[in-house]
Amino acid sequence: MLVWIELLFCVFVVAFWWYKNDQRRYSKYPPGPVRLPIVGNVLQMLIKSTEFPALALQKLADEHGDVMFIKIAGGEAVVCSSCDAIKEMLNHENAIGRLQYEFIRDRHANRNLGVIWSWGPTWRNLRRFTVRNLRDFGFGKSSQMDSVINEELDKFLEHMRQQIRSAPNNTLYGVTDFFHLTFNNVLWRLVSGKSYGYHDPQMMELLRLNREFFNSTNFGLDLSETFPILRDLFPKWSGRAAQLKTSKDLFDYGRQMLEEQRQLGTYKEDPSCFLDVFIAKVEESRKDPNSDFNDDQFVTTILDLLVAGSETSSKTLTFGMLYMMLYPQVQEKVQEEIDQVVPDGFPIDSSMKSKLPYTSAVFLEVFRYSTVVPIPTAREATDDFIFRGFFIKKGTGIIANTQAVHFSEKLWGDPYTFRPERFLSEDGSGVDMKKADLLLTFGYGKRICLGMVLAETTTFLYFATMLRTFRLEKLPGANISLKPTLGITLGPQPFNVKIFVRVPKN
Ligand code: HEM
Repeated sequence: MLVWIELLFCVFVVAFWWYKNDQRRYSKYPPGPVRLPIVGNVLQMLIKSTEFPALALQKLADEHGDVMFIKIAGGEAVVCSSCDAIKEMLNHENAIGRLQYEFIRDRHANRNLGVIWSWGPTWRNLRRFTVRNLRDFGFGKSSQMDSVINEELDKFLEHMRQQIRSAPNNTLYGVTDFFHLTFNNVLWRLVSGKSYGYHDPQMMELLRLNREFFNSTNFGLDLSETFPILRDLFPKWSGRAAQLKTSKDLFDYGRQMLEEQRQLGTYKEDPSCFLDVFIAKVEESRKDPNSDFNDDQFVTTILDLLVAGSETSSKTLTFGMLYMMLYPQVQEKVQEEIDQVVPDGFPIDSSMKSKLPYTSAVFLEVFRYSTVVPIPTAREATDDFIFRGFFIKKGTGIIANTQAVHFSEKLWGDPYTFRPERFLSEDGSGVDMKKADLLLTFGYGKRICLGMVLAETTTFLYFATMLRTFRLEKLPGANISLKPTLGITLGPQPFNVKIFVRVPKN
């Protein structure tokens, strides 16, 4: 008995010494939950939510504040949970690095590659080059984007009509994603000038790999990120083996694409697309061993655009279709507004958005309510700095909890209700821009989503055109769950939907 009391006493003394030491060490850091040895704050997060890191962090922030310090994912991180704090942080000149998750270290073999996860001058060079040259091929310019989008939309509507014709009782079963391939085509048209058929085996495989990559980790609550040793010891169980395989397959695909484009030779005289411009830059930089333009950067940058581009947009809009099925009165109001504004036989284009305030408000509510990127891929402090009086050390992860903002009771009153009117101005004639500015769907600051304008335009035109062309109905008695599927981004659970071709009433 005495031995046990002595042992307990020793444990207590060590724990007390450790706690005091930890408090002293982090006294200038933002407040946060007590950090436990080895596991940091993982247990506290798991207690708050075993599945959703954003929800766990939101609940911890309710106790510790908008700017909170935690230890997870093998490192230290500061978590911002209010709109003001996130904007101020993501705009900070020392908050523009990217945290290197273990699965990204593996994907890049520890190199500084691509646009999404790169840092320093390499990131700056690649981002600037990508934005400038994609613009030359219409990316981000309304008129050119609208025409590419509407051409792909025509093909998509025909594909949908065919699907509906062959569907029993107009019902599509197990829908998880309506738009993945068509959004990929829009993006790919602007990057390479090409688009793919709806059953193209190569593209289907690429999209499958992309989806697998997205579903392969759950960031903060992924134990193999917190304890990287698990990745070495149990590659299969930890998911590392699958991540390595998916990344390899994606990179093989990217290399094949590079070689095919190089063989065409169009990059030499008359670059016909972004791929050509990039290859020309790689050739021009051959003699410079320190150049940021080489084959691996080409492959990673192109894969980054694909990884970031189609899955995010298509999941958002599939959620949108699901909500329209669940809230038929909202669907009807959108259809009425579109019928009144858009002349019969004309395609919807970006310039009509301001004349469709209710549709725009619904669309913003879809972005808020779905929040497919609840925690944008974390930033990293590139230097020591003081933020709101707290010390942030170089190398600290920076997490923006977008979901906490999009579901804040303080900001929205009834965040868990789907209510598009919250985004309308008082007289209903336009969008309330102050409310729209509270959305952080695309991040903020210098690393804000590179494809934001394309994503907003594509999803809006598809959303409006889908509802103008089709009516969506829930199956009688169907029980629909709004609980999302997990992964880097959130998506809808498979659902069944009745779809009917409608005739616009104008
Ligand atoms: C609804 C669709 C989309 C959502 C919700 C979304 C969201 C985001 C978010 C939250 C970030 C992180 C921003 C930050 O750190 O502040 C990001 C980065 C990025 N997005 Fe998107 N995105 C979407 C569509 C697209 C599209 C269509 C592209 C196509 C090119 C794209 C390319 C990128 C790239 C390359 C980055 C990394 C930017 C950098 O680190 O400099 N995204 N996106």
